[in-house]
Amino acid sequence: MSSDVLATLVPQPVSASARPGSLALPAQVGIWRDDGAAAAADLLTIELSRATGLRFAPAAREAAQIVLHSDGDSGEHYRIEIDERRASISGSPAGLIHGVYTLRQLLPAANWRAAPLPGVAWNLPACLIEDRPRFGWRGCMLDTARHFSPKQTILRFVDLLAMHHFNRLHLHLTDDQGWRVEIKAFPKLTEVGSHRANTGLGFAVSATEPHDGTPHGGYYTQDDLREIVAYAAARGIIVMPEIELPGHARALIAAYPEFGCLPDEPVDVGTYFGISRDLVNPLPHTIAALETIFEELLTIFPSPWIHVGGDEAPLERWRDSPAIRAHIASLGLPDAEAMRTWFTAHFAEFLNARGRRLVGWDEIIHYGGLTPSSVIMSWRGEKGGMKAAQEGYDVLMAPVFPTYFDYAQDEGADEPLSIGQSVLLEDVYAYEPSARWPDKASFDKVLGVQCQLWREVILDEAHLEYMAFPRVCALAEVAWSETRDDFAAFRQRLAHHLARLDAYGVNYRPLAGPRPWQQGGAGRKAYQPRFNLKEALANLDQWAESGEPPAEHLAD
Ligand code: ACM
Repeated sequence: MSSDVLATLVPQPVSASARPGSLALPAQVGIWRDDGAAAAADLLTIELSRATGLRFAPAAREAAQIVLHSDGDSGEHYRIEIDERRASISGSPAGLIHGVYTLRQLLPAANWRAAPLPGVAWNLPACLIEDRPRFGWRGCMLDTARHFSPKQTILRFVDLLAMHHFNRLHLHLTDDQGWRVEIKAFPKLTEVGSHRANTGLGFAVSATEPHDGTPHGGYYTQDDLREIVAYAAARGIIVMPEIELPGHARALIAAYPEFGCLPDEPVDVGTYFGISRDLVNPLPHTIAALETIFEELLTIFPSPWIHVGGDEAPLERWRDSPAIRAHIASLGLPDAEAMRTWFTAHFAEFLNARGRRLVGWDEIIHYGGLTPSSVIMSWRGEKGGMKAAQEGYDVLMAPVFPTYFDYAQDEGADEPLSIGQSVLLEDVYAYEPSARWPDKASFDKVLGVQCQLWREVILDEAHLEYMAFPRVCALAEVAWSETRDDFAAFRQRLAHHLARLDAYGVNYRPLAGPRPWQQGGAGRKAYQPRFNLKEALANLDQWAESGEPPAEHLAD
């Protein structure tokens, strides 16, 4: 093991300097830790025992090869000091977890395997590393609604996010095409809402486009989700659930038509994509049901943040319904827009009363109704985030370009199916959230950044990993590292880092382009970009001026 490994760390630490020598971990590794370091010591023991075959056991401080010391702070900083006798990790309790993952990057990549290989020497380079994150929110969104991921995929993703010092996993659990969370008070949400008969090919936006003829579905039990939450928490990651409202809710309405706007015209779980006109209604019986759903959700997810969606909700069905119009009038509200404000305000206050904060896509800033603790996720470019920050709200940056990883990683026709062209690895790495920001004071409201894996056209688990990696590695550095290399230097570091993904068995896109079996070919995964992101950006800016989507984007 040479100190060259310091030049392969992703994300790059604040500082890393080599010292002479190395520490050879013995077959019996002694660990000393203080009380605040218990979680980090447990994690290190679990992960490294499995992969290395070494035995980790408590030892006196002077005799220990690994020492973990907590300073009790609330940040995420850590310091690693390794000499020929021991490796010491000190820092805040949360920072120690990141220190464990950096220590793993210092070990041979084989520590990312699930069982020991013969002949690996578990040596650590003598060094001093000081590190802390740039942003407090380093997130990734997984859309489990459009294509369901088995629980094991989510756990696997947690491992991969933790490897890169992410600390938030946003699970998009409901949408038009599926409802993925067990709610005991409303069993039809999963009995009916968790599966569909069919899926439109490509980014089909109507029932008349070709479909695949294959049922699709799945859901997580509450215990599955509690398991994911606990597994992620042990790895420094908070799982934020999203229940999409009032739009993107067709699966809910398919299960319970009385919560939709046209109760006499039942719908099926969506099989095609785009923006549906189907919204939940804002009538008292629906609000009460949604509160029950959130009450159950809060027992599963301790996350301080609860995402309620809020994007792409055309209000025409609220405007057209006599019952909804009468209800709007009974509340003394002037119109459907004011009802929309009321709807957000209701759930923002509901969540605040239970000690949680509402998060919503940036459309919600258009209508208001937020409580001061609400958080805006800026997806239609950056303007929604800027407006929200200037109004004093905390902001998360998730702009389509360059954080939507359902866009192709390259414009070559050998890429697999994607939603459109293109978010290159280089684009992700070049993303500087502050670059276009108008003022420093409101930039301080930016909690962090997040990448999105929407799954309308990400069909299976291998495809998911291909779209995610290595772009997740680039976003990790945007989110974590104070200073960034030029892209060429990052690419060189990444080339070494990919050995860690290889050891874990990740289906990433190689830097030279897709392997033959990763290409789209001429079948179901054929490259057929539907949107050109560069062209769409101008429209998005215009769209971001309003709360409702432009009519030409509606499905059907
Ligand atoms: C979104 O992409 N509609 C949030």
